[in-house]
Amino acid sequence: MTERIPPLRVAVLASGGGSNLQAILDYLARLGAASAARVTFVAANRAGAGALEKARAAGIATAVIADPADGPALLRLLESHRVELVALAGYLRLVPSEVTARWRGRIVNIHPALLPKFGGTGMYGRRVHEAVLAAGEPESGATVHHVDDAFDCGAIIAQERVPVEPGDTADSLAARVLAAEHRLYPRTLDALARQLITSR
Ligand code: GRF
Repeated sequence: MTERIPPLRVAVLASGGGSNLQAILDYLARLGAASAARVTFVAANRAGAGALEKARAAGIATAVIADPADGPALLRLLESHRVELVALAGYLRLVPSEVTARWRGRIVNIHPALLPKFGGTGMYGRRVHEAVLAAGEPESGATVHHVDDAFDCGAIIAQERVPVEPGDTADSLAARVLAAEHRLYPRTLDALARQLITSR
């Protein structure tokens, strides 16, 4: 019998409800032994973040990031949990450059638009979808990208497109994009983990 390679240890950083975290957990659970990744640590910059509750419910170690601008502290936290890949999922704080430099190629984010359009400082939540509608775009979508020390600027890994429908509001478009995020992020993370596992 061939020995199973232990899955890559993934940390998810979040600020909000954690619907992307839940989609990742559900997808990896469905893959079971075939998954290349396992979420072993979840951290949030707010103690009340729903993502922490979802993580606890799944029996995953959690922490509150006391000062998101403190790069050395975040590095220590990730190291202490023996993390191998960092996934930002609705994490609304800039990751300090010490962290992005140290984790280059192993820290990724999901953005609710088709980058490089509609990204950058201040482009989060409803504002993204309002800007897409105001620009009269025929489509939007979700983007998984590498993280560097500016918002939404790292290399694009994968995208899923959705149409903008006549009569869309920021809320209806946001819901369609979020559903795309929930399909795109889990499978992209698993594929990335599969690549990274070979360079362990
Ligand atoms: C998503 O639109 C994500 O792209 C953004 O935060 C929203 C949802 O967060 N950055 P969550 O996964 O439900 O916490």
